[in-house]
Amino acid sequence: MNFAIVGCGHIAKKHAEAIQNIEGAKLIAVCDKVPQMMEFYIERYSAKPYTDLTEMLRNDDIDVVCICTPSGLHAPLAVDVANAKKHVIVEKPIALTLEDADAIIEACERNNVKLSVVHPNRFRPVVQELKKIVDENRLGKISHANATVRWNRNQEYYDQAPWRGTKAFDGGVLMNQAIHNLDLLLWFMGDVEEVYSMAATRLRNIEAEDVSTGVIRFKNGALGVVEAATTIYPRNFEESLSIFGETGTIKIGGPNAIYFEHINVASLDDETTDYLINKVKEDPFGKPGHQWILEDMIQAIKENRKPIVDGYEGRKALQLVLAFYESAEKNQPINLSVKITN
Ligand SMILES: NC(=O)c1ccc[n+]([C@@H]2O[C@H](COP(=O)([O-])OP(=O)(O)OC[C@H]3O[C@@H](n4cnc5c(N)ncnc54)[C@H](O)[C@@H]3O)[C@@H](O)[C@H]2O)c1
Repeated sequence: MNFAIVGCGHIAKKHAEAIQNIEGAKLIAVCDKVPQMMEFYIERYSAKPYTDLTEMLRNDDIDVVCICTPSGLHAPLAVDVANAKKHVIVEKPIALTLEDADAIIEACERNNVKLSVVHPNRFRPVVQELKKIVDENRLGKISHANATVRWNRNQEYYDQAPWRGTKAFDGGVLMNQAIHNLDLLLWFMGDVEEVYSMAATRLRNIEAEDVSTGVIRFKNGALGVVEAATTIYPRNFEESLSIFGETGTIKIGGPNAIYFEHINVASLDDETTDYLINKVKEDPFGKPGHQWILEDMIQAIKENRKPIVDGYEGRKALQLVLAFYESAEKNQPINLSVKITN
């Protein structure tokens, strides 16, 4: 399976490493509008460089294209890739508007190519274990869940590139960082009924928000609480997800949510609880999430099925972020129906 990458900045390196680690996969081409950004990939992977995407897409050997450009550019590039009949892996967020997300989904369906959105946190060992526990209904009726992202992204981070922190190309802490956590909330708690949010730009010189808070009512009646900020002094402090049920309480956390911080579940004895805590502690990162996503794409192509995190999954997380934004802007609750259309 031959891969290409568009946008050779920070996250592209994770895609290239993942491709290298997958047997039978090869990075054969890269595209960036800044030629120097491609030098690493030419040297290390012997990838063919292109400054023009249209030209790269004429290369018949490319099967899958990973889109790693600034978020506001995902849609036009992904549509071009799909129209060239190549499968699409797009970085999160799928896009910055629902219209753009729909354009990507429509182009992929029309051209009969697969579409996957990079939400790699679902594949963290601790998250996979938590998912099993929730799916086995061991927490019973859930009263509420809490997603917290207390991170530091300093002004230097935002000043690295002009697109960062802008509404047109990036968004703020919710769209860039906490979309992963909103994706997990949706994955664990199901569809959302209503959102009420407040946001502010307090400490960073950016257009979008650097702190966001909000509450959610899920369709199943449970509540959700979200706190997300890139303002935390002086470094990443906490990323966590807590779920509170009638027969169990679980918190995953740490500066990145990769450990069990607390498990108290009625149907799990002490031995099993300790086993789970230690199992995750021994290998908190597991196989890199990007590799999971890329391997799943290859399997989806071979088996002609949808990727696990497909376009509709990416769209749901985007829709929730946009509902938070709309609520904060209008200072009123937003009713939304996150429809599972796949
Ligand atoms: N899944 C994750 O955990 C994760 C983590 C970080 C970033 N991301 C996402 O990855 C994307 C890129 O982030 P980054 O930090 O790598 O950004 P970056 O600024 O480091 O890199 C972006 C690259 O895209 C190139 N580019 C811009 N416009 C282009 C165009 N029209 N054609 C070709 N190349 C173009 C730039 O020259 C640059 O090299 C964003 O959407 C971001 O949200 C995802």
